[in-house]
Amino acid sequence: MRITLRLIISLIVVVVFVALVSAWFNVRQERLKLYDEVRAQSALLAESFKESVRHNLEAKNMAGLQKLADKFQNQQKLEGVAVYDGSGSLISGSSALPPELLARGPEINALISSGDGADRAYAVGAKKIHLYPLTLTFNGNEKARIVLFTDISYIEYDLFKIWKRTLIRLLAQMVLISLVTLLIIRWNLVDPIAQMAEWMKNLRIGDEHGNAPPIKGDIFAPIAREATTLATNLQAARRAAQNEARLRQKGESLWTPERLKEHIKDKMGGRPLFVVSNREPYMHIKEGKDIRAIVPAGGLVTALDPIMKAASGTWVAHGSGEADFEVTDADNRIKVPPEEPAYNLRRVALTKEEEDGYYYGFSNEGIWPLCHIAHIRPIFRKEDWKHYYEVNEKFCKAVLEEIADVKEPCVLIQDYHFTLLPSMIKAARPDARVAVFWHIPWPNPETFGICPWQKELVMGLLGADLIGFQTQFYCNNFLDTVDRTIESRIDWEHFSVQKEGHTTMVKPFPISVDFQQPERDAKALAQKPDPAAVLKELGIKAEKIAVGVDRIDYTKGMLERVKAVERFLEKYPAYQGKFSFIQLGAPSRTHIPQYHRFLAELHAEVDRINWRFKAKDWKAIVFLEKHHDHKEITKYYKVADACLVTSLHDGMNLVAKEFVAASDDHRGVLILSRFAGASRELKDALIVNPYDIEQMADAIYYSLTMPKAEVEERMTRMRQDLHENNIYKWAADLTGELIKLRMDDFKLTGV
Ligand code: G6P
Repeated sequence: MRITLRLIISLIVVVVFVALVSAWFNVRQERLKLYDEVRAQSALLAESFKESVRHNLEAKNMAGLQKLADKFQNQQKLEGVAVYDGSGSLISGSSALPPELLARGPEINALISSGDGADRAYAVGAKKIHLYPLTLTFNGNEKARIVLFTDISYIEYDLFKIWKRTLIRLLAQMVLISLVTLLIIRWNLVDPIAQMAEWMKNLRIGDEHGNAPPIKGDIFAPIAREATTLATNLQAARRAAQNEARLRQKGESLWTPERLKEHIKDKMGGRPLFVVSNREPYMHIKEGKDIRAIVPAGGLVTALDPIMKAASGTWVAHGSGEADFEVTDADNRIKVPPEEPAYNLRRVALTKEEEDGYYYGFSNEGIWPLCHIAHIRPIFRKEDWKHYYEVNEKFCKAVLEEIADVKEPCVLIQDYHFTLLPSMIKAARPDARVAVFWHIPWPNPETFGICPWQKELVMGLLGADLIGFQTQFYCNNFLDTVDRTIESRIDWEHFSVQKEGHTTMVKPFPISVDFQQPERDAKALAQKPDPAAVLKELGIKAEKIAVGVDRIDYTKGMLERVKAVERFLEKYPAYQGKFSFIQLGAPSRTHIPQYHRFLAELHAEVDRINWRFKAKDWKAIVFLEKHHDHKEITKYYKVADACLVTSLHDGMNLVAKEFVAASDDHRGVLILSRFAGASRELKDALIVNPYDIEQMADAIYYSLTMPKAEVEERMTRMRQDLHENNIYKWAADLTGELIKLRMDDFKLTGV
């Protein structure tokens, strides 16, 4: 039955019931009232009649009594009167009264015996007669009864009229109720629901572009809210699916932020992702009275920020900005990126001593030079180790707080600052899936073996379920190191280590960049990058430009690079006054003496070379020592004829990949060190040995004289490769592998 009909019937049933009950009470009241009136009238008449009856009885005047009885018959509703003696025998009665009524001896007698005021009604033919008795005394102690007979048929008729009126009113009410109900339902429910259904149908078939559903009003507010969310999600899912389908159709399998988001959601069942690194993705600094957020330099942040934007979750990092804790909440959390919050940043505060020992000391004077073969001696101090251990514990505490409410959380630990963290987390949360990604090189066992805490470092790392390195070569080095350092079972076929019942997989995951980022950066620039304008800003003139973009670090081969520029200008003097090398250098780890010395030496070299080739309006080398944001860096990439990435040793080096991603016009030549992980993938770069100054000088020359077609061919091939192997693929591979591994492990060990 339709809801409207059901509602109308229910309403009618209730209204009829209420009306009938109230009519019944009404009728009952009316009946009592009318009977009371009859009774009162009868009593009044009987009283007025009483004296004449007594008089005739005492005088034994039967004829007078009869006359009196006849006088009172057929008066209005009074049918007649009768007089009975004490035993109930009729003495006299109105002749109009039917004899059978007068002769209803037993009843009348019983009625009379019940005394004055006891009345009763009898059906006589079509009439209903009311009997009213009154006792009188005559001759001192003789008793007689007067009975008044009143026609009360009109009472039933009056009452019937009340019922009739009620029923007519009821009928009218029912019609009115049905009509009003129908209209209310139509206006307030049927029409909005029909509109909503139409809107949903359009949404389903993809015709609905607005998000807001058409229904309004209080009762629909919760539905409207939910429907809006549903519509947004549906549209996002549809867009992602369309994107995916489009890519599949094109025969490509490109990883995009949307696809990664779906992948992570799907693989992790909606659980958030947790990232731990020393360097934070956004750092708050003071500029006068203002607080500004900056993005710190370095490949790690470049790589992981887009992933967190896509996946959401929490990034735990050292809060190293001077205004960092002025903008966080009570739990040291803040939503980032500031312009469009997408994930949580949990900042960990470190004391100066901790920062000195853990970051500057053990991490950057110890492990960093240990892993980078750049001919700088690692320094290992006992106090630094102590702080390193304690800071790992401090981070562990923060991570455990963040993952407290998450079942089987996925934790991605970054880099050499946290070798002990995987075991610490695992000890407290065996259900956590822990991966470490080692962004820097892993040296051979002999080199690593000089670290006094090599066992602790290896054991700490083996707490992870998965360890990722940039290249297969570093994976091999790591397994060799494990083999030489601790007792364990190494599976060389599957690249895993078994130690105390726990398995750690070791795999290469070459990190990458967001291929679309430079395009977005370029769009955000005030004007299209133009070489002449860029050179003018720098106060020089030149025809050819090469750039270098680095954190100022001795591993980056910057000294060798400027020497190569000098040699190039010396060997190919025609380029003097025509070629400039622009070095963008972000100051880094400035409290470490080795970095000081390196920076001073670099400045001295640049000064010496510039002095040597001094000319009006031209400089051989422009050294821009400051932090540049992505937008500015993109501008330099886009005007460069060549980019020099000449690290002495580098895990990957994302500058090389960023330069390729920025070259949407397919121009520019990449000169790349064979000791950077990126050289394993970007085979169309001019691969150089950064220690070979002569070779690098020739590479610069070759890059500037290379036929345009070759430049484009090389760049096109590198871009194709990078397009597919972007940062989202890296994240998908890493998280996918981690989730797969842990599932198997769970089944085996039954944790
Ligand atoms: C390298 C390391 C990162 C580090 C980055 C910047 O890329 O692998 O872990 O964050 O350099 O160095 P910084 O010491 O400034 O964080």
